[in-house]
Amino acid sequence: METAPIVLAMDGPSGSGKSSVSREVAATLGFRYLDTGAMYRAITWWMLREGVDVDDAETVGALAGKPELLIGTDPTAPTISVDGTDVSAPIRGREVTGAVSAVSAVPAVRARLVAMQQQIIAGTLEQGQGIVVEGRDIGTVVAPEAPVKMFLTASADARASRRTREVLDTGENATVSEMHADMARRDRLDSSRAASPLTQAPDAVLLDTTPLDKDGVVAAVLEQVRRTLLQP
Ligand code: DC
Repeated sequence: METAPIVLAMDGPSGSGKSSVSREVAATLGFRYLDTGAMYRAITWWMLREGVDVDDAETVGALAGKPELLIGTDPTAPTISVDGTDVSAPIRGREVTGAVSAVSAVPAVRARLVAMQQQIIAGTLEQGQGIVVEGRDIGTVVAPEAPVKMFLTASADARASRRTREVLDTGENATVSEMHADMARRDRLDSSRAASPLTQAPDAVLLDTTPLDKDGVVAAVLEQVRRTLLQP
């Protein structure tokens, strides 16, 4: 599908199918792809490596500007490095996943990453390319002007089994009931924090992915892009 260079905002909780769908949609449209969750995970990875207590918001905030982040936006091979170390694999592990909600609730962390994300988006559009941006606050804070905003959800069971598969793929152990509890905790923290909580933008299109496979979700998102861009 030929389309103008635009921002496509993809928000929703973990396990909603956002990541694989966002990458596929970006590749189909010839767009770049920005995984903002990977940026929060990378900062968290660095804090843990430095031995910072992630529940000490003051210290996390004071150090938020220290790690040097580099994120690639190729949807077929997204990469992220911290101070020159490729952290694409370790940021998916359970240690980072358990700590990332605390780190991403710190305003100084959000301020730094939102500014970086807006810069990447502006640079991409300036080069005449579109970009799919996935996260929790893209339609509300990072790119409120995005012409297409999707908010993906799925039932708790579907999300927990998808997340279990993801963790098993990293070589770590996980059970569906553990992932259920893990996600409930993360949802509570991500939705109740003061700074940019996970909320659906009023103009976002809600898509329940529970009954759909990946291709079905990709098709629904592409249809929404087409419909929005064809509107007079
Ligand atoms: O999408 P993910 O599971 O990789 O995100 C990791 C964490 O980062 C998640 O618990 C919430 C946080 N996050 C955020 O606060 N804002 C974003 N735009 C993206 C992720």
